[in-house]
Amino acid sequence: MGLGNKKLLPWWRSKFILWGFLMLPGLMFTIALLRDSMSYSNLMHATGEFSARFLIFSLIATPLSMLLPKSKFPKWLNRNKRYFGLAAFAYGLYHTIAYLVEVPSDQVIGEFFEIGLLTAWIAFIIWIPMAITSTDGWVNRLKITWKKIHNWGYLAALFVFLHWALIHLNWKPALVHVTPVLILQGYRWWVVFTKKKTIKTTE
Ligand code: HEM
Repeated sequence: MGLGNKKLLPWWRSKFILWGFLMLPGLMFTIALLRDSMSYSNLMHATGEFSARFLIFSLIATPLSMLLPKSKFPKWLNRNKRYFGLAAFAYGLYHTIAYLVEVPSDQVIGEFFEIGLLTAWIAFIIWIPMAITSTDGWVNRLKITWKKIHNWGYLAALFVFLHWALIHLNWKPALVHVTPVLILQGYRWWVVFTKKKTIKTTE
């Protein structure tokens, strides 16, 4: 996020309000858990899907703003995609902690190399350095290296979708979600290669 020409936004457009909205479902899951009205498998389903959907928002932000340069929503999404990416990590972390708390450690070790879980661990491990370096301070400090680290996000996204499809050996829900991302990212790279248009990957 460039620090140079920051405009003063009204309070309701501040990043804290957006962050509050992004975290609200997680707060509701926690309340439901404390009241014993949410099962482990519902929690895994909800946190997994929220994580994957926030990831999708962060992945479609750039191509959508290239496709619809005059529309407000893609611009807003592109400006805030880092928060969506971070929210995806936060729900992924919640999901992983729930798994580690619920599942006995010998089972965690025993099933580690099952393809539906190995893909999950790989995605999660790739996400850790990305989440740590997601602040303005790291963006400014790392510059080109920051972009290189964050390009790993595409690989993490691939593993997230493999995990989603392979965990219950059901490709449909993952495929429905990944298709718009593939179309929009395909459009983005087609524009880049055919028209040599420069793309803004950080705000
Ligand atoms: C990296 C971020 C991750 C994302 C975005 C993610 C996403 C998802 C999604 C979308 C589902 C399907 C939910 C459903 O339809 O029922 C799921 C299921 C599951 N995930 Fe993840 N996952 C992630 C990481 C992990 C990790 C690290 C683990 C633990 C090793 C894990 C363990 C599981 C399990 C056990 C299920 C099956 C839950 C059930 O149905 O009981 N996930 N995940």
